[in-house]
Amino acid sequence: MEQIQQADTHEQTLENLKYKLEGIVPEAEIVLKAEIAYEINRLKKEKNAVILGHNYMEPALYHSIPDYAGDSLGLSRISAEVDASRIVFCGVEFMAETAKILAPDKMVLLPADKAGCSLAESITAEDVRKLKEQYPGVPVITYVNTYAAVKAETDICCTSSNAAKIVNQLDTDTVICLPDEYLAQNIARETGKKVIYPGQGTGNGELKNSMIVWDGRCEVHDKFTVQDVKNVRKQFPDTLILAHPECPPEVVEASDYSGSTTAMIKYVQNSDADRYMLFTECSMGDNIAAENKDKEMVKMCSVRCPHMNQITLEDTLESLRKDQYQIEIEEEVRVRAKKSLDRMLEMS
Ligand code: 13P
Ligand code: SF4
Repeated sequence: MEQIQQADTHEQTLENLKYKLEGIVPEAEIVLKAEIAYEINRLKKEKNAVILGHNYMEPALYHSIPDYAGDSLGLSRISAEVDASRIVFCGVEFMAETAKILAPDKMVLLPADKAGCSLAESITAEDVRKLKEQYPGVPVITYVNTYAAVKAETDICCTSSNAAKIVNQLDTDTVICLPDEYLAQNIARETGKKVIYPGQGTGNGELKNSMIVWDGRCEVHDKFTVQDVKNVRKQFPDTLILAHPECPPEVVEASDYSGSTTAMIKYVQNSDADRYMLFTECSMGDNIAAENKDKEMVKMCSVRCPHMNQITLEDTLESLRKDQYQIEIEEEVRVRAKKSLDRMLEMS
């Protein structure tokens, strides 16, 4: 992942934002946001901070302050490598926690005191321990969209960009894949496994070539339906349709492409299609549209992640000024959680 060079002066910051966001964000708002962004970029140098921005950040923030922008996997890698005393994570809490697990000596700041995730909230460490008792010896793969205590009970983590690859590399044909039911179903289809739910598959040989899944859902991607895909195809038949793997499996199957947030960005950039539509969080659509002005984005959705939406330029400035909100993880939990992240980074 390449470092993004942000503007050094207030005038340049404003010019860049105007160029990127014209027609996407009202001009008066761009002027206001450019002032805040300039101050953030000045202060981050003074405080030796690096800003990581997830692809779902709102357009003015996404295009003005991150030193690195990307998906969960890319940002995890950068957290482990980056040379700075502070990491300001413009994303949700589990992402900032991942950065702290990988970079314990750095101060990791989340600009909001709570920016959760319906997937991370769907499972506890106790739930994982019970599953391990029920299915002894079966490896546990956990999506990074979980909190540190859950990662600590896990054999290996995955993200939407490496999940199928990791399942294929494991020397076993039965896995427990947590907590996103849809992501697991999508990986099961890709890797040819049958899906079973906790409590099932305990009879002789029933676990063969199967994936034990949990019932967590992303509250954003859960909203998309096959009917939505059909409606777009009917109205705009030449549209390239991309869906995040957290979408229901039938939506992913009806789409032309499915991949992580960064994989979808790259796919749009490299595609010849004149029109595209994304079944994912809607700020990311605006961010892609700002960088692909030669292509038309069909915009049906206004599905914003309420947790990603907690992160604003205003709060990021406060975060840098006051060193808030600092991520802390109990050392014993951190060390165990790190093993599962390290394994993922080695295997992907
Ligand atoms: P990515 O890893 O694809 O960036 O996804 C993270 C996420 O939270 C999607 O909802
Ligand atoms: Fe969690 Fe869904 Fe929001 Fe991603 S979009 S952070 S999975 S609630």
